[in-house]
Amino acid sequence: GAPVEVNIRKAEPGQLVRVKWRGKPVWVVRRTPDMLEGLSKVEDRLRDPNSEEPQQPEYAQNQHRSIKEEFFVAVGICTHLGCSPSYLEKGMGDHVDGVESGFFCPCHGSKFDIAGRVFESVPAPLNLVVPPHYFIDENTILVG
Ligand code: FES
Repeated sequence: GAPVEVNIRKAEPGQLVRVKWRGKPVWVVRRTPDMLEGLSKVEDRLRDPNSEEPQQPEYAQNQHRSIKEEFFVAVGICTHLGCSPSYLEKGMGDHVDGVESGFFCPCHGSKFDIAGRVFESVPAPLNLVVPPHYFIDENTILVG
């Protein structure tokens, strides 16, 4: 499949931009400072908080799982059985164990934080996949 360009110039803080890459949904979330602050608060409840498992490029093996802290890029497919999780923006966090924002898979209840890191005690075994990507310029990400 061909790489896909994502224009993020108009993405508002908190917004999730959806594109398709190789037939899969890919998300780009422009995270708010609050969302980034929340990353440290949940680590004792995550399976792989430091992203040591191999489902991301090296440049996403960090707490925020991205190149730039602000922009999170992920394949929007649950690592359990392949449903597409819902994006829970601020104020919708009840599904996510009191966490303000993250992703919730309605199929069997898997929960991920706003860096796609999976919570313990849900069926999904791994963090959401981060696809290969880079910044062409300030406003454009190339996925693939
Ligand atoms: Fe997402 Fe099962 S497919 S929890």
